[in-house]
Amino acid sequence: MNMIDPFGRTISYLRVSVTDRCDFRCTYCMAEDMAFLPKKDLLSLEELDRLTTVFVEKGVKKLRLTGGEPLVRKNIMHLVRQISRHLESGALEELTLTTNGSQLSRFAAELADCGVRRINVSLDTLDAQKFHTITRWGHLDRVMAGIDTAQAAGLKIKINAVALKGFNDAELPELMRWAHGRGMDLTVIETMPMGEIDEDRTDQYLPLSLVRAGLERQFTLTDIPYKTGGPARYVEVAETGGRLGFITPMTHNFCESCNRVRLTCTGTLYMCLGQDDAADLRAPLRASEGNELLSNAIDEAIGRKPKGHDFIIDRNTRRPAVSRHMSVTGG
Ligand code: 5AD
Ligand code: SF4
Repeated sequence: MNMIDPFGRTISYLRVSVTDRCDFRCTYCMAEDMAFLPKKDLLSLEELDRLTTVFVEKGVKKLRLTGGEPLVRKNIMHLVRQISRHLESGALEELTLTTNGSQLSRFAAELADCGVRRINVSLDTLDAQKFHTITRWGHLDRVMAGIDTAQAAGLKIKINAVALKGFNDAELPELMRWAHGRGMDLTVIETMPMGEIDEDRTDQYLPLSLVRAGLERQFTLTDIPYKTGGPARYVEVAETGGRLGFITPMTHNFCESCNRVRLTCTGTLYMCLGQDDAADLRAPLRASEGNELLSNAIDEAIGRKPKGHDFIIDRNTRRPAVSRHMSVTGG
């Protein structure tokens, strides 16, 4: 019944990218003139619900909606409402999402009403000008308003910041003080070589060992065993009383405890964020009304989940480790 991969890892976490589109164009994530999927290739919300339901029946306990930006998918709250029935039945333990925050003012209350308890908001800088530079299209004030609305609605927020050399490294202490001052955890992430972008990733890449060393000049960081089911390793910060997470795909490989797979809005299942291998679930989904073909295709896919990723960023490795952008799977 449960999904267990060849390395004995139980798959209990599904990330669903409901759209590859986004209302931002973060420079480390996308090229400015991104080509998006034609709308006709998307699974309908009903199909996404059917797929996720099969995963829940097969043992998924935690489900995260991602994108692109999940809240720009048309009628997305219909899907959230549908999935929330699995929370009510107890089959699903957590429904959450990763968002850039631009649409939160509009949707936060309804998300909370659907049983969403915590969300991740991606935010790399508190400087409005820099925010506009890094996101190309984003406006900081909208995201801030969204965060206010979400907290007022009772949603717990974790801030995710990608550490970018020469861009936000000097600002990370301030970002942390701000997040912790508002009762939000902060997680910093190393950039991963996914998809062609307009810039050179070697120029952006900042190992978190350096970030940590920098923060330790000003703050007392104590390793803690706190886990949220993801790859982040956490410290407690004595001066702020808050938690700081480090996601270090590049400098520390955490694949041995991987519990997740990623489904895209076209029904493609990626068994690893850092590998190109994928399984098509759209064909078995559409081939019959029953779920048996689908269930078998999922088992077959889990059966070839790879051991881990091979991310490298250096001057000799010009090509991204995987050709798809992060916006295909949403991290
Ligand atoms: N490397 C690391 N993080 C990335 N994100 C987007 N692209 C990359 C990348 N190449 C982050 C976003 C968001 C999350 C979904 O992934 O900032 O926090
Ligand atoms: Fe959009 Fe997130 Fe990519 Fe930025 S990082 S362009 S907000 S999907």
